[in-house]
Amino acid sequence: MSMLFVFSLFLLLDVPKSCIAQKNYSSFMLVQQWPKGFCNSISGFCTSIPNKFTIYGLWPIRSNDQLIVNCNLTNHLTYDDIKRVEKQLSSNWPSLVGADFEFWSMAWGMFGTCSEKEFSKLEYFQLALRNYAQNDLKGILKKANIVPDEKQLYNISSVVAAVHQHTQHHPRLACYWSRSLNVSALYEIGICYTEDGKSYKDCLEYYSTCHGTEIAYPK
Ligand SMILES: *[C@@H]1O[C@H](CO)[C@@H](O)[C@H](O)[C@H]1NC(C)=O
Ligand SMILES: *[C@@H]1O[C@H](CO)[C@@H](O)[C@H](O)[C@H]1NC(C)=O
Ligand SMILES: *[C@@H]1O[C@H](CO)[C@@H](O)[C@H](O)[C@H]1NC(C)=O
Ligand SMILES: *[C@@H]1O[C@H](CO)[C@@H](O)[C@H](O)[C@H]1NC(C)=O
Repeated sequence: MSMLFVFSLFLLLDVPKSCIAQKNYSSFMLVQQWPKGFCNSISGFCTSIPNKFTIYGLWPIRSNDQLIVNCNLTNHLTYDDIKRVEKQLSSNWPSLVGADFEFWSMAWGMFGTCSEKEFSKLEYFQLALRNYAQNDLKGILKKANIVPDEKQLYNISSVVAAVHQHTQHHPRLACYWSRSLNVSALYEIGICYTEDGKSYKDCLEYYSTCHGTEIAYPK
C-alpha cells in the first residue's frame, strides 16, 4: 500500500518536470512593425496604415537563436478563444493587408502553438498585448528625437540606444532597402523576453537586416 502511494506521488511530481524538459524555446521576441515601413517593404498593398507601431507577432525562439514554428498543426484558433480581447487585438495587432482574424490565426498556428503548454490561446494573446502596452516604440524613439521623416536619416546606434534606454537590453531591428533613399529603412523592431515572457533580455542578432550606419524611419 505505502509503496504504491509513494510511487503515485512520484508520478505526480514527475509530470511537470518532463513538461519543462520538453520545452522547445528559451525566449520570446515581441515583434512590432512600423506600418509605413512595412507597407513600403511590400510595395504598398496595405488596407490600413496606422500611425503607431503595431504588433506583428510574438515569437518563441530556441536557445540557438532559431525561430521555432508550426509545433501543432491540429491546434486551431477559434473566434471564441480571443473574443475577450478582440477590441484590443483589432487596435494593436491589426493585419495591414487582410482580415485580422486570419492574421491572428496564422500567428497562433505558426508561433503560439510552440508555447501552447505554457500559454493557452487567450494567455498567449494577452501576453503579447501586455508586453506591447509596456513598449510604446513611437514614444520611446521620440524621446531620443527619432521621429518619422521623409528624408532625415538616423544613426542605427542611436535607434538601438533609444530602445535600450527603455528596456536595458538590445532590440533587433529589421529594415528593407529603400531604393529612393538608397539606404536601409526601418519596418520592424523586436524586443526579447525570458521564457516566462516577463523579463527583458537581449535579442541575439540585433542589427540583422539593417545595413550601413544610418537608416531611414519612413513617414
Ligand atoms: C518540440 O518540438 C518537437 C519537434 O519539433 C515536437 O515533437 C514536440 O512536441 C515539441 N514540444 C513541445 C512542448 O511543443
Ligand atoms: C495539439 O493540439 C491538440 C488540440 O488542442 C491537442 O489535443 C493535442 O494534444 C496537441 N498535440 C500535442 C503534441 O501537444
Ligand atoms: C553613430 O553612433 C556611433 C555610436 O554612438 C558614433 O560612434 C558615430 O559617430 C555615430 N555616427 C554618426 C554619423 O552620427
Ligand atoms: C548608393 O549608396 C552607395 C554608398 O552607400 C553609393 O556607392 C551609390 O552610388 C549610391 N547609389 C545611388 C543611386 O545613389
